[in-house]
Amino acid sequence: MNEEFDLIIHGGTCALTTTDGKVSFEKVSVGIKANKIKRLETGLEKKSSAKKMIDATGLHVLPGVIDTQVHFREPGLTYKEDLASGTLAAIAGGVTSVLEMPNTKPAITTRELFIQKCELTVNRIWCNVGFFIGATEKNVAELKTLENLHGCCGIKIFMGSSTGDLLVSKDETILEILKSTKGPVAVHAEDEDLLVERKKQFASCTDVREHANIRNEEVALKATMRVTRLAEQAQHKVHILHVSSQEEINFLRDHKKYITVETTPQFLLMSAPECYEKLGTKAQMNPPIRSRRHQDAVWVGLLNGTVDVIGTDHAPHMLEEKSQPYPQSPSGMPGVQTLVPLMFDLVNQGRLSLERAVELLCHNPAKIYKPLSKGHLQVGYDADVTLIDMKKQKTIENSWIKSKCGWTPYDQVKVSAWPVSTIIDGHVVMQDDVILGPPQGQMIEFERR
Ligand code: DOR
Repeated sequence: MNEEFDLIIHGGTCALTTTDGKVSFEKVSVGIKANKIKRLETGLEKKSSAKKMIDATGLHVLPGVIDTQVHFREPGLTYKEDLASGTLAAIAGGVTSVLEMPNTKPAITTRELFIQKCELTVNRIWCNVGFFIGATEKNVAELKTLENLHGCCGIKIFMGSSTGDLLVSKDETILEILKSTKGPVAVHAEDEDLLVERKKQFASCTDVREHANIRNEEVALKATMRVTRLAEQAQHKVHILHVSSQEEINFLRDHKKYITVETTPQFLLMSAPECYEKLGTKAQMNPPIRSRRHQDAVWVGLLNGTVDVIGTDHAPHMLEEKSQPYPQSPSGMPGVQTLVPLMFDLVNQGRLSLERAVELLCHNPAKIYKPLSKGHLQVGYDADVTLIDMKKQKTIENSWIKSKCGWTPYDQVKVSAWPVSTIIDGHVVMQDDVILGPPQGQMIEFERR
């Protein structure tokens, strides 16, 4: 039978999923029809026809990469980033789905604001998007309804103040949230009381190198331990975002029953004080990039399974804002576009396996947040695909960056792997660094909680 497909990708090495959920690399062709993966079969291109064929010989064909933590600034701060520019940066870098944070202006904490934000995505988003709903002291009772809004990937709790005004610092409130809701709860774990104390203590400090000392490992560990205990008490899973310290990695290794863990490329690739000496306040983020011993520990956690996912914490600020003297300089750096080249370059360096990279960037994000039909190359799944050339040498440059902020902390960094094609719902939207419109992104549907 001559089956007709919309797209066939052939000749590439595909990251398939075994029956026990593991990654397995096989040379098969991917047949895509009506936005879905219809067949995974060798020789499909010879016996079938397709409106479009991609010869992926020499390339790796991965389930679309999911960035589990980005801040796109819309509504309110769209001069830094908006939903269009942030998602454009994502597809330019081989990312097919992003989970976007609620610390906009205003913060997304009500049904009305959430729905308004979803309406802003129509015909504007280049990749698929899920939005977090922000927890506050006031919206606790509504969260069990809000977490089931179409497009909601989970609840975000800031235990310590960062960019924006979201904050839930009390154990009683966090416990109430965990007891009354069922879906993913992602936590920024820095202890507010300790933070306030330390900021007071260092009030006259104007040296960005002290950032990791002010927001020190104790600030992070205290919040991480508190929320782990609360998760165990409520028997509700909690996802701890951007884990940065040796103390947390050591603690979390033995406390994974109700906890999943994210770290960022920054914590794997940079350490203090060098990052602050080289990049100044561009390297300032919350929680901070810490010393070498913390960097080494995050690597240990990545390799021993303590870390489940890599999210970038893409947090764009303009260079003029970043160049204000510390501590007026805002915390955060862009990252969504550089995630794939950096992580697969680390694979080429032998720092982690290709299988582990696929788990961290595709399978585990889907396991934690449960988007319907995403995260795996499987028949019946959405046709979101990232094609990577594991032999392409490139230099990351500011001029490549699509984010409105226009810079990357990795400017002039050489990498040995590159995303060469991004496919959203069966549509090729990026090919060899060229963007192919129109935008094809949709709000992601998640499993009902
Ligand atoms: O450095 C950070 N920047 N950490 C956060 O938690 C928020 C982010 C932002 O939105 O700027």
